[in-house]
Amino acid sequence: MPENKELLKSIATEFNVHPIHLRMFMANFKCELENIKSVFEKSNIVSPKPFVKWVGGKRQLAKQFRDLDLYPPDEFNPETATYFEPFVGGGAMFFDLLPQEAVLSDMNQELVIAYSVIKKNVDALIKKLREHQKKNSKEYYLKIRAQETNKLSPLSVAARFIYLNRTGFNGLYRVNRKGIFNVPYGDNKNPLICDEKNLRKVNAALKSTKIFRQDYKKVLNSARKGDFIYFDPPYYPVSKTAAFTSYTKEAFLEKEQTELRDVFMKLHKQGCFVMLSNSDTPFINKLYSNLDKKITTNKVFAGRSINSKGSGRGKISEIVVINY
Ligand SMILES: C[S@@+](CC[C@H](N)C(=O)[O-])C[C@H]1O[C@@H](n2cnc3c(N)ncnc32)[C@H](O)[C@@H]1O
Repeated sequence: MPENKELLKSIATEFNVHPIHLRMFMANFKCELENIKSVFEKSNIVSPKPFVKWVGGKRQLAKQFRDLDLYPPDEFNPETATYFEPFVGGGAMFFDLLPQEAVLSDMNQELVIAYSVIKKNVDALIKKLREHQKKNSKEYYLKIRAQETNKLSPLSVAARFIYLNRTGFNGLYRVNRKGIFNVPYGDNKNPLICDEKNLRKVNAALKSTKIFRQDYKKVLNSARKGDFIYFDPPYYPVSKTAAFTSYTKEAFLEKEQTELRDVFMKLHKQGCFVMLSNSDTPFINKLYSNLDKKITTNKVFAGRSINSKGSGRGKISEIVVINY
């Protein structure tokens, strides 16, 4: 950390980015703390938002993680090590940290295509989204939803994916057992289908990232000592009826959660910094207890609407397991 840690922290808070990001920014743009504000304001990469609404998105929690000192690990050096997010979803944590080198992956093919197209072909994507924006209606939504994605170009898949996410009910992504997207039209008033400004920021943030569609276990092949891995898997259900495991058509229950714990332990033994979010349930707590004295289980509270009636809205606890 540079000497003026407090000033760095306050500027980071003002711009809603992580202090680590400011340090990297100073190195990249060769500027000093004194003039960073003006350079930062002109830059395109300030605080992108996730470009999709995603169930389990961590945007609201990132600040809490920082305030509670759960993230990022003090010793993680973003100038020499890599950040991995193998269940990237909407990528809220990636966009919060904005690391220099990152490997992002997810099993959801359309999501991964969308990331790749934003990275490589953002101008064409913006143009296509504008077309969707002009034509949007319930009938149009149903027509686009019915398209078979394996017959479309990556550009059309990405635009369709973002369009459906912006206009579908509650921004849900849900597929049936055959893997077909089945969310109804959302009747949103004036949905922002083409958020050009944000897409350009996301494009800039993805500049030196690698993006893959792959199972999270593949992270074991490339993570090295000193790298930082954040796992945000499909949560273990709080109750039998609460299960939401339809981001992909594969389930993520006891067997899968136990395998993930084993991957966590392998990375821990390899000297990686590992952080994992999950539901605060007896099964998950037991899975991560008595492993190693460096591994701690911490609670955070997520504002979540549990049901559509006001009385059912509240804060539910989640756990964050860290090894640093
Ligand atoms: C809780 S969400 C992640 C949310 C994300 N942190 C955010 O801020 O939006 C879990 C993600 O895991 C992905 N997923 C499910 N099974 C997977 C697997 N075996 N390997 C990699 N990703 C998987 C889903 O597609 C989903 O995007």
